[in-house]
Amino acid sequence: MDDNNAYKLAYERERKARLAAETLLEDKTREIFKINRELKSSYDVLKKQQAMMLSSEKLATLGTLSAGVAHEINNPLAFVKSNIESLPQYYETYARLVLLIKEIMPSLSKPHRDQLEVFFKEEDIDFIQEDIPDLMKDTMEGLTRVKDIILNLRSFARTQSTDRGLSNVKEGIESTLKILNSELKNSVDIKLTLNPVPDIFCNANEINQVFLNLIINAKQAMEGRDRPTIEITSDVVGDFIEIKIADNGCGIPAEVQKEIFVPFFTTKPIGEGTGMGLAIAYGIIQDHGGDISLQSSEGEGTVFSVKLPITQKE
Ligand SMILES: Nc1ncnc2c1ncn2[C@@H]1O[C@H](COP(=O)(O)OP(=O)(O)O)[C@@H](O)[C@H]1O
Ligand SMILES: [Mg+2]
Repeated sequence: MDDNNAYKLAYERERKARLAAETLLEDKTREIFKINRELKSSYDVLKKQQAMMLSSEKLATLGTLSAGVAHEINNPLAFVKSNIESLPQYYETYARLVLLIKEIMPSLSKPHRDQLEVFFKEEDIDFIQEDIPDLMKDTMEGLTRVKDIILNLRSFARTQSTDRGLSNVKEGIESTLKILNSELKNSVDIKLTLNPVPDIFCNANEINQVFLNLIINAKQAMEGRDRPTIEITSDVVGDFIEIKIADNGCGIPAEVQKEIFVPFFTTKPIGEGTGMGLAIAYGIIQDHGGDISLQSSEGEGTVFSVKLPITQKE
């Protein structure tokens, strides 16, 4: 064996070893990649579950808290409102007094008349007269809004499972639609595919509240859009009743979707949205052992899906 041959053999051995190592490396890399992908997806699942646990825990604490706050605010609110309600009557008396003074002013002695005139001017009595009715109206409106928020907080807080009985969810949807009739007719097309579902053990008022909130949101999401349509379906899927409420409204961007169940989160202008609709819906459905989820694409529409377990007993 000459040197040349020995060199060739050595080279060949080295090449084989290198190839084997490369194949091994490639296999290992592939394996690591696969494991990594699996890890990533388990991590995502875990993260999602943690977020859900956190938010339901947060909601539970918030429920207790809001029940307390609602109760505390409710009492002062009641007397503030009743006080404000008696103001218009007092104001009327005051307005008559001002009128009377103005009437008798010419008959007063000059020093007294001057004194009154200066007072009227400096205190801008004419402006005050004009402004009081506006102030009272705005105050009443503000108080009504506070009252609405308190009402929302209370229904959010009401998580005890009292008032439950056997009730039919399909009939619930139909009666909710009747309540909403004047709100929806002429403006929204409603398509119903309500398949029969068994009665379930639930709080019918609360469940109807969920549908009401979802339908109102759907309607608001379609304002100013072509052919506004809400499609509602009911089905039995395994051990669950599934209700879907679909709209062809503005849709919900991914980053907004993360927030929508958070109490007081709203994208609507002040006075229009309280941000409690979906928080209440979420609480009620959780409380019934169900699940609420959504699919949405921006500019095309949103489908909310409510799943309720078929349980006929407590
Ligand atoms: N069907 C829907 N289409 C588009 N956006 C929606 C829909 N439902 C809910 N949203 C979004 O979720 C937010 C929270 O809803 P909600 O809790 O009912 O409060 P509110 O309606 O008072 O704003 C809304 O402000 C809106 O941005
Ligand atoms: Mg709403």
